[in-house]
Amino acid sequence: MRYPEKRLRRYRKDEKIRELVSNVKINKTDLIQPVFVKEGLDEKEEIPSMEGQYHHTLESLEEEIEECDRLGIPGVLVFGIPEKNDEKGSLAHEEEGIVQRAVRSIKDFSEIEVFTDVCLCHYTSHGHCGIVKEGELLNDESLEVLGKAALSHAEAGADFVAPSAMMDHQVKYIRDVLDEHGHEDVGIMSYSAKFASNYYGPFRDAAESSPDGASTGLRNRDTYQMDYRIGGEGQPMEEIKMDLQEGADIVMVKPALPYLDIINEASHRFDVPMAAYSVSGEYQMLKNSVENDIFSEKVLEESLCSIKRAGADMIITYFAKEMVKDGKI
Ligand code: PBG
Ligand code: ZN
Repeated sequence: MRYPEKRLRRYRKDEKIRELVSNVKINKTDLIQPVFVKEGLDEKEEIPSMEGQYHHTLESLEEEIEECDRLGIPGVLVFGIPEKNDEKGSLAHEEEGIVQRAVRSIKDFSEIEVFTDVCLCHYTSHGHCGIVKEGELLNDESLEVLGKAALSHAEAGADFVAPSAMMDHQVKYIRDVLDEHGHEDVGIMSYSAKFASNYYGPFRDAAESSPDGASTGLRNRDTYQMDYRIGGEGQPMEEIKMDLQEGADIVMVKPALPYLDIINEASHRFDVPMAAYSVSGEYQMLKNSVENDIFSEKVLEESLCSIKRAGADMIITYFAKEMVKDGKI
């Protein structure tokens, strides 16, 4: 029996050749660390649903950022959890709000790239991402509040605002507001293809932002976040295209691991920087598995690699710090 001359195992003979041949490597400079800052805390608190992640005070956030800087992580995505909320989320754009203060304090001493999540779900009493009336989430009324929130983040010094409410035309609206106020340099990283995912569970516990069906008549986010039963060629690409036309600088797919097909399709179609958000449920699933010795911790690098291989240029992951600190990448 004659075998072909080519033997692919030559590429795998030892670690040195495997490293030379490999073309997808996770660098720390690919990673963005999400951070939570919570109003009214005396000390930082571990988030029960997201082991190893913290609700920070303004002081402990400073240490967190210093650590990111030391480790060489280039960016953070800041979430604020306010003490008070109301039906219209009007505290989302207060100059003295918790995110705005956090951004100012970070920018005071650090050059880390600051991305801020722009949404209303932490600020509305009912936990929806916009204004609700008679069981409906009102798109254009919500844009006004989102625009003000984005502007307040820009004024505090955010480098990029990251609208995540999945309202139609939120990118254009926010771009216009920023430009009108002289913030042409502030970018938009849009949560473009954001799915109504069950993988957000631990985050909603962390941010106390689960939608309240009883008071609103809207039990979930299915009327604004995307349906996961739609393939990559249709609506998800349409969402990304629209955001680009409206002025998004970076587009995002979220979640990441269960949506690699979407990331891949988008990376072929659009030649723009693309982020993937590996969400709280992905984090907790992997964390638990490693901690319980179900998987080797190498599964973390493998997972990030798969997201990059699919086509993401940057990855928002709760593992960012840990990967670098513990030499896992
Ligand atoms: C708010 C928001 C969510 C996440 C980021 N921004 C949750 C949601 O849509 O309910 C999820 C992040 C995660 O699960 O890690 N719009
Ligand atoms: Zn939201």
